[in-house]
Amino acid sequence: MNKVIVGAQWGDEGKAKITDILAADADLIIRYQGGCNAGHTVVADGKTFKFHLIPSGILYKGKTCFIGAGTVILPESFESEVGGLIAQGIDVSGLKVSPLASVTMPYHVAADDPDGKIGSTRKGIGPTYTDKYARKGVKIQDLFEPDAPELYQKYAKIFEPYVCWDWQDMLRAHKNDRILFEGAQGVMLDVDYGTYPFVTSSNPIGGGAAVGSGYGPAMIDEVIGVAKAYVTRVGEGPFITELDDETGENIRQIGAEFGTTTGRPRRCGWFDAVTMRYAVLVGGLTQLAITKIDVFDSFDEIKLCTAYKDVRTGEICTSYPTNVNSHKYYEPVYETHAGWKRNIMGIRKYEDLPPNAKKYLARLEELLEIPIAIVSVGPQRDQTIFRGK
Ligand code: GDP
Ligand code: IMO
Ligand code: MG
Repeated sequence: MNKVIVGAQWGDEGKAKITDILAADADLIIRYQGGCNAGHTVVADGKTFKFHLIPSGILYKGKTCFIGAGTVILPESFESEVGGLIAQGIDVSGLKVSPLASVTMPYHVAADDPDGKIGSTRKGIGPTYTDKYARKGVKIQDLFEPDAPELYQKYAKIFEPYVCWDWQDMLRAHKNDRILFEGAQGVMLDVDYGTYPFVTSSNPIGGGAAVGSGYGPAMIDEVIGVAKAYVTRVGEGPFITELDDETGENIRQIGAEFGTTTGRPRRCGWFDAVTMRYAVLVGGLTQLAITKIDVFDSFDEIKLCTAYKDVRTGEICTSYPTNVNSHKYYEPVYETHAGWKRNIMGIRKYEDLPPNAKKYLARLEELLEIPIAIVSVGPQRDQTIFRGK
């Protein structure tokens, strides 16, 4: 059973935690898009690990972790991430990089979002993808050309131990194994389907796995969308259920909503079922993992956006308006759910969740028309509920 992990909102949904858990039952873990704009946190055996480009499956010995052709790599960031893992005693012998992945050059970083309009992570992501599609990019394999300039040679040394020159044989050999595709960012940051232009420059949707990994769509059995029980966003762009008040601040503090890559405070708001229904569709999601529901443990009530009201016409809509210029005309329509007012972080069985938590989750399933397979009640590996187990 091969699975894709996809962020179902604007990133930081807890994808890495879910990837790390599911990686225990996978042989090959593949990052297929994005670069070190990602900040993926895994808490394992009491230690916190932060990944940017290295697949979150690296903590298990003996697994192959492949960084696919659809990714972009900032050499200095790759070097320090790998160095950090080695310093912590992590075995990186399973780490492999596609020779077809794109290299972020210093001029890409310099050209990234200079006026801060997008609020990018400033890791050169957009300019690297721009050059790739303009067919003037630099691929990992180019660094190894015999007449490569000095900087290329320096970068080649960094990648040399990890470049997977026989990646075709490697992928063929794993064809009947268990494969986990690890998405970065989220559906609403997708360059084609997200809140354009306030997006990243790659395809975090499930379909991206079939482009950026080297395997085709027939290799995918399940697409697991990871979503928080609320919504966060870093950087600029519309966010209809954003809370600029004490409740938003409460979510930020309790949920520790500060960026893994940039340290920026994340914008917080209520769960938006309109956006999520859209993400289920275009993300190709087949199941959901709902994370951070424990953040609501102390809340008296929890709001859930079920529709938008168009303030110009009074019309109620449940279909996502894709033109972000129109978003200022939409107000969230909320229903209110009673909180459960108890600590649920120790719960391990779905049946043992408080009735009000189960009601909230059941309502999400009803609105989104997709099963919730996993519920996460804390950052640690064991703070996870698998439905039906
Ligand atoms: P990713 O980018 O999707 O992998 O998510 P991040 O790692 O950027 O952010 C998710 C944060 O939430 C991390 O600090 C995780 O350790 C933490 N986290 C994940 N799942 C849960 C959960 O169920 N409850 C709580 N309280 N924290 C969680
Ligand atoms: P993970 O994988 C949250 C956001 C940036 C900015 C926009 C474009 O940890 O979920 P970019 O540097 O990609 O050109 O920035 O996308 N962004 C993320 N937000 N989580 C991420 O990754 C993100 N990667 C990029 O804040 O708004
Ligand atoms: Mg993150």
